[in-house]
Amino acid sequence: MVADDADEVEVCAADDLWEGDMQSFDVGEHEVLLINIEGRVHAWHGVCPHQSVALVEGSLVGKVLTCRAHLWQFDVCTGRGINPAAACLKEFPVRVVDGKVRVGLQPVRGEAVVVTACSGRSEP
Ligand code: FES
Repeated sequence: MVADDADEVEVCAADDLWEGDMQSFDVGEHEVLLINIEGRVHAWHGVCPHQSVALVEGSLVGKVLTCRAHLWQFDVCTGRGINPAAACLKEFPVRVVDGKVRVGLQPVRGEAVVVTACSGRSEP
């Protein structure tokens, strides 16, 4: 990880995150889970909003991430909970610049939503 900007850091080469792959990185004070879905990189808070288990230890099937602990499921394109539907993941800003994945140090949204209404973004 390269810290060269006040707002974001370089975490890996884009080529190191294959399509359908997920990897976890320490970004500032947060654990961030990067997931490549159909060539687009998504960045989510890397701990489950239920009981803070590392989501990288879960399973990713298509666009559905399942936490290993109690099997909560999330749509990794939107961050919205599938089961339970009211849960959601905090999103981090992410972009690819010159073949490097760069992640913002602060989430796009505020505090993690545990089981309340999700203010996640819509499908692109
Ligand atoms: S800690 Fe993830 S479902 Fe319970």
